[in-house]
Amino acid sequence: MSTASRAASARVDQFFTVAEARFDRWRSLLQAARVWEGVANQEPAQREKQKAATLWSFQELRQWEDFFAYPGAPLLRTLGERIASGDATGSVHLAQAISTALLTHSYRSNLDDWESEEQPSINMAERVPGASEEVQHRPYFEVLLVSPAPSAKWPGLAQELRKLRRPKDQFIYEPVFVGNFEDAVLGTILNGSLEAVVIYEGIPFPSSHYSPVLREFLTAHLAASNVSQDSGQFALALAEGLKRLRPELDIFFLSDREPEKIAGDVRGSCMRRIFYQVEEPLELHLSILDGVADRYHTPYFDNLQKYSQRPIGTFHALPVARGKSIFKSNWIRDMGQFYGLNLFLAESSATTGGLDSLLEPTGTIKAAQEKAARAFGADHVFFVTNGTSTSNKMVEQALLAPGDIMLVDRNCHKSHHYGAVIAGAFPLYVEAYPLTQYSMYGAVPLRTIKKALLDLKNEGKLDRARLLVLTNCTFDGHIYNVERVMEECLAIKPDLIFLWDEAWFGFARWSPFYRRRTAMGAAAILERKFKDPAYQQAYKDQEKKLGANPSEKTLLDTRLLANPEKVRLRVYQTNSTHKSMSCLRQGSMVLVKDPDYHTVEEQFHEAVFTHASTSPNLQIIASLDVARRQMELEGYELVNRAIQLALDVRREVNSHPLVSKYFRVLGANEMIPTEFRSSGFVDYLEPGMNWAKAVDAFREDEFALDVTRLTLVCGCAGFDGTQFKNMLSADYDIQLNKTSRNSVLLQTNINNTRSDIAQLIKVLVVISEEIDKKLVNGGSAAKEAFAGRVKSLMTDVPNLPNFTNFFKHFREDSSSVTSEGDMRSAFFAAYREKQCEHLKLFSPEIDKRLKEGPELVSANFVIPYPPGFPIMVPGQVIDAETIGFMRKLDVKEIHGYAAALGLKLLNPAFLKAVKQPSGDVGHTEKAKRKSGAAG
Ligand SMILES: Cc1ncc(COP(=O)(O)O)c(C=O)c1O
Repeated sequence: MSTASRAASARVDQFFTVAEARFDRWRSLLQAARVWEGVANQEPAQREKQKAATLWSFQELRQWEDFFAYPGAPLLRTLGERIASGDATGSVHLAQAISTALLTHSYRSNLDDWESEEQPSINMAERVPGASEEVQHRPYFEVLLVSPAPSAKWPGLAQELRKLRRPKDQFIYEPVFVGNFEDAVLGTILNGSLEAVVIYEGIPFPSSHYSPVLREFLTAHLAASNVSQDSGQFALALAEGLKRLRPELDIFFLSDREPEKIAGDVRGSCMRRIFYQVEEPLELHLSILDGVADRYHTPYFDNLQKYSQRPIGTFHALPVARGKSIFKSNWIRDMGQFYGLNLFLAESSATTGGLDSLLEPTGTIKAAQEKAARAFGADHVFFVTNGTSTSNKMVEQALLAPGDIMLVDRNCHKSHHYGAVIAGAFPLYVEAYPLTQYSMYGAVPLRTIKKALLDLKNEGKLDRARLLVLTNCTFDGHIYNVERVMEECLAIKPDLIFLWDEAWFGFARWSPFYRRRTAMGAAAILERKFKDPAYQQAYKDQEKKLGANPSEKTLLDTRLLANPEKVRLRVYQTNSTHKSMSCLRQGSMVLVKDPDYHTVEEQFHEAVFTHASTSPNLQIIASLDVARRQMELEGYELVNRAIQLALDVRREVNSHPLVSKYFRVLGANEMIPTEFRSSGFVDYLEPGMNWAKAVDAFREDEFALDVTRLTLVCGCAGFDGTQFKNMLSADYDIQLNKTSRNSVLLQTNINNTRSDIAQLIKVLVVISEEIDKKLVNGGSAAKEAFAGRVKSLMTDVPNLPNFTNFFKHFREDSSSVTSEGDMRSAFFAAYREKQCEHLKLFSPEIDKRLKEGPELVSANFVIPYPPGFPIMVPGQVIDAETIGFMRKLDVKEIHGYAAALGLKLLNPAFLKAVKQPSGDVGHTEKAKRKSGAAG
C-alpha cells in the first residue's frame, strides 16, 4: 500500500500505533532523498526543490526520533548535516541503512548499524551494548530515563550507565532520555522497545516538543489513559500514570529527598524500586536487568528445557517420552525427524523432576500461573490444556449449583450451554441485538440485562441469579462496556458474579485502548472507583434522588451507580490464549479476581478435577508460560501492529476502486446501531475522525468494535460465506475464520505482517477482476444472474429466531415473566429413546403440530454453522419462526440435527408426565423418577 495513502488518512491509524508510521516516515525520507539524488544532473532549481523536500521529510521524522535510542542523536546529526551540505548520495546511503536496520531490527545486535563514516566506532565499545565482547544473542531493550538534568548532560549520563555493563549481563539495553512529564508519556507510548522507566524527582511538566501533531497525539493519550498532571508531584503522578498505560513496565524512582516517604506513599506501590538519587548506579543497573529477568523467566518452560537435557530412564506409561520408540523405529522415524528430538525429550507423564502437577500445582506450574496472574491483572490464574470450552465449564461448575439462575447470552459459545447442563443451573437467556442482514448477532444491550435482573427481583428470584455470562468480544468483534455493565448490574444485585468469555480477546490486555474494556481492566477501574470518596458521595446523591421505590422505567433509564459499601466485585475471565497469543492450540486460562474466591476455592478445585485431563500436555503448559513472557515483554508493540494491520485492510478494501465494487469490510456504524454509540462515533476510518473522538467512544459507548475482527461482505460479489471461504482456501491458500450467509470473518493477530495483508488485497483484486470480466463478457444474461444472486444473498435473508421459552413443565411457574428453565432435566430426558420422537423438518406433521399442538419441544441442542449459536436448546418450545429459519438454512453442518431422521423432540406422552421444577433440581429429578422419566 502506498505511503501516500497511509499518510493521507494516517491520523486515526496513529491513534493505535506508531511503529508502522515510523517505518513509513523513514521510507518517505528515503524516497525523497532518492528523487533528489536522481536529479543531480538537472537544473539547480530542480535540485534545490528536491533537497527541500528531503529536508522537510527529515524534519518531519526528526521530532519523533528523540524517543528512541536508535538511530540516536549522532547518526541523526550526521544525516541532517549531509542533507544540509547538499550530499544527496550520502543522504540516501545513510537513510537506507537506518531504515533497513529499523525494519529488520538488526541494530539490536549489529554494531555497524550504529556507525557512519563521520561517526567512526571510536567510542563504540561503550556506545553499543555488548560491543566489546563476543556475545551470544542477548535480548535488547530500551530504558526511558526521565531526568530534570539539562539535555546537554544526557550523553554523559548515558555513558555512565553503559559503563556499568558486564559480560555476564543477560540482556542489553540502551538509555533514552527525556526531560519532562509530557515527553515521558510520549516516549512510553511511542517506544515499544521500552521495558523500564527511571523517573528522577523534580521533573517539570510541559513537553519540550512543540509539534502540533505530537501535541494532539499526547492530548488524546493523556485523556485515554487517565495520566493527568498532579499538583506539583509530577514524578509520582507520572509513575502512576505510566503504570496504567503500560502495566508491564518496571518503574524506578530516583528521589533526591526522602525516598522512604515515597516508599510509604500508596502511590509508591506502582514502582519496582525507589532509590536515593545519588547512590548506587550499579544497583539501578542491576535492578533494571532484574526486572526484565523477572518477566523473562518462564518457570515451567525453563525447567522443562532443563529436564529434557537430563539422562532420565522412564518406566511410566508414555512410550514417546525420550523418543526412543520413534527414532529407533523402522517405520515411524519420519515423525521424529519432522518434530525434532526436543519434543520427545520434553515429554513425560511424571510430575517429578520439577514438572509439577497441573491438577495440584505446588512448584513450577504454580509459579508460572502466579506470573500470569500478575501479567493479566488477576488474583489467580488457572492454566487449562483443553481450550476455553473446558475453562468455561470449569468456572460454571465451580460457581453454580443446581437451581441457580445463570443469565447468559443465548448466542454465546456452546460450552456455556453445556456448563448450565453440567451445573444444573437454570439458564435465563438474554438476547443480543440481531444484525439480520448479515445473519449474525451483535451483543446484549445493557437495558436487556437490567430488565432481566429487575424482573427477577419483582418475582422474588434475584437471590438465585448468581452469574452473568457474556462474550467479550463476540466472535464478530462487539466489545462490551464492561465497566458499565458490571457497575449497573451490581447496582441491582451487589453480589452478582461475572464471567467474561474473552476467548478472542486475551491480547487486549496489552493495548491501553482496549484494556479498559477487558474484564480485568474494567475490574481494576471499578475497584479504584468504589474506593473513591467522590464516587461514594455520587452514589449517596443518586440514592437520594431515586428515592425508596424508583419505578422500573427510572431504573432502566438511569445510569446506575453501585453501592460501594455493599458491592462484592467478583470477576472471572476465560481466554483462549491460543487464539490470540503465541500458545499451542488448546492453551487457555481462567483468570480470577474475586475477593470472595476463598468461599468457592474448594468447588474450583473440584471443577479442575472434573474437567482437567490427568495427562495434560506439557508443551501446552510450557507455551502458556512462554505466551505470558512474550506479552509482558513485547505484547504492547505486537498488539498495536495487529490493530494497525486491521485498519490497513479496512482502508484498502473499502477505498480500492475495483475491490470496493464487490467487497466491503463492515465499519463500526454497520456492526453497532446508532443507539449504542452515544458518543457519536461512526467508524475509525470515517472522514473527520480524530483521536479524541475514538478515545471518547471507547470510554463512553455501550459497544465498540474490535478493529482486528473484520467482517468482509462477499455477498455483493455473488459468493455466500462458505463458498468464498472455500475458494480462498483452495485457490489462494488463504485461511480465514467463520462465515455467515453473505460474509466471512477475517482477523489479524500478533502473527500477521504487512506482506500477509498485501497478499490478501492482491487476491481480492484478482477475484474482483474476474467478476468484472465475467460480467462484461457474459452480456445481460450474466449481469441478471449476478444481480439475482446478490439480491438473494444480501436481501432475502431469514429473520434470526429469538429464544422462545422452555416447555411449561421445565419451568417453575409457566406464567413467570422470566424465562429461565430446567434445561438439564430436558437434556437428560432425551437419553431415553421412548421419551423422544423424530419429525422430518419438511413434514406436514410439523406444520400441523405448530398450528394445533401438542407443542414441539426440542430434545437437544441444534446448532447450525454458520451462524453457530443454538437455535434450539433442550426443553425449548419450537415455534414457526424457528422452523422457518431451519427450513431456509442452506448450510451443511448442523450439530444436533440429522436430516435423514428429522428433528429430535421430547414426545407428548413424556411431556405430559413431567412435573414442574421447584427451583431445587434435586426435587425435580425425584419427581420425574416417580413419573417414570429419565434418571
Ligand atoms: C466465545 C467463545 N468462547 C469459547 C470458545 C472455545 O474456545 P476453545 O476453542 O479454546 O475451546 C470459543 C471458540 O470458538 C468461542 O468463540
